[in-house]
Amino acid sequence: MNIPMVDLKGQYETLKTEIDSAILQALGETRFILGPNVQAFDQEAAGYLGANHAISCASGTDALHLALLAAGIQCGDEVITSAFTFIATAEAIRYIGATPVFVDIQPDSFNIDPGKIRAAITGKTRAILPVHLFGQAADMDEILALADEFGLIVIEDCAQSFGSRYRGKTTGTIGAVGAFSFFPSKNLGCYGDGGMVATNDENTAAQVKMLRNHGSSQQYHHDVIGVNSRLDELQAVILRIKLKHIDEYNRRRLDVARAYNERLAGSRFQTPVIPEDRDHVFHQYTILCDDRDAVRETVLAGEVSCAVYYPIPLHRQKAFADTVQPELPVTEATAQRCLSLPMFPEMTEQQIATVCEAVLSA
Ligand SMILES: Cc1ncc(COP(=O)(O)O)c(C=O)c1O
Repeated sequence: MNIPMVDLKGQYETLKTEIDSAILQALGETRFILGPNVQAFDQEAAGYLGANHAISCASGTDALHLALLAAGIQCGDEVITSAFTFIATAEAIRYIGATPVFVDIQPDSFNIDPGKIRAAITGKTRAILPVHLFGQAADMDEILALADEFGLIVIEDCAQSFGSRYRGKTTGTIGAVGAFSFFPSKNLGCYGDGGMVATNDENTAAQVKMLRNHGSSQQYHHDVIGVNSRLDELQAVILRIKLKHIDEYNRRRLDVARAYNERLAGSRFQTPVIPEDRDHVFHQYTILCDDRDAVRETVLAGEVSCAVYYPIPLHRQKAFADTVQPELPVTEATAQRCLSLPMFPEMTEQQIATVCEAVLSA
């Protein structure tokens, strides 16, 4: 049995008839840029999240860039974030000429540790950018309290957390603005690149709408320098269909995580804590162990996939060699010890059992 990290083919097979016919219809309509499906998806996604506005764009990286621009972050500003994330989080900060300031994470949630943020705030700090890593919301109440105290903007990286909730609110609607990715392997993924910005603020929404379309809100009138970052119509068609199933997909991911936790309980592997005050949507299921590389090799030698997210924290990446390299002991230890196991809604009991056998035998 070959068990991949994500089985996109299996999911497509279950939606094939609906997707194929909707794609054919969109092809027939030939309204490929900011067409009717993009407009409908933006409304449906906002409705799902409970946000006043959702503005789709070309990728999650662009969503972060647009969110930072619309929030007014400028060259020379500092933005506090985590180093235990995909590079796009801090890359987008750099696009603007702002500086990412990396703060350590919590050992259990892998999210930014709010207790360590205060020490990183300087006169140049303008924003805090928490990442809801692996599908679990960061400690937003503590982050919002600090932001309030210091007059900072909170921008959420929700690339891995579509549908995840924190104390009743969906991620992406808690801070000033949220950025989502629809990369194919994400909880809500399209069949190419895609992203979205969500906000409750009308002015921020208007800014993002204008910025994603060459700084224009009226054809051939350009108020500011923007970018070309629009979700394409065919991706919107796919996302509209998948959005109807997102709660079921996320519930199923949680079931898979619970089954993994049960089977790995009592072993030497540290399994994820499933929190009570927030709905974890398990974009990744990540365990910790001291001999991670040996375990990884043994598991991969069989027919089970596994992966390391993330082996090199951002403050240790060459691309950020010019930023301050803080001591981040939890981040560094986690990067050495983390191992993500296959995770997708369609996983069967048999597949879960096979993955656990492979891990436990290592
Ligand atoms: C935490 C995080 N932020 C940002 C991104 C960027 O998203 P995209 O690949 O859609 O540009 C990703 C996805 O890869 C991510 O995992």
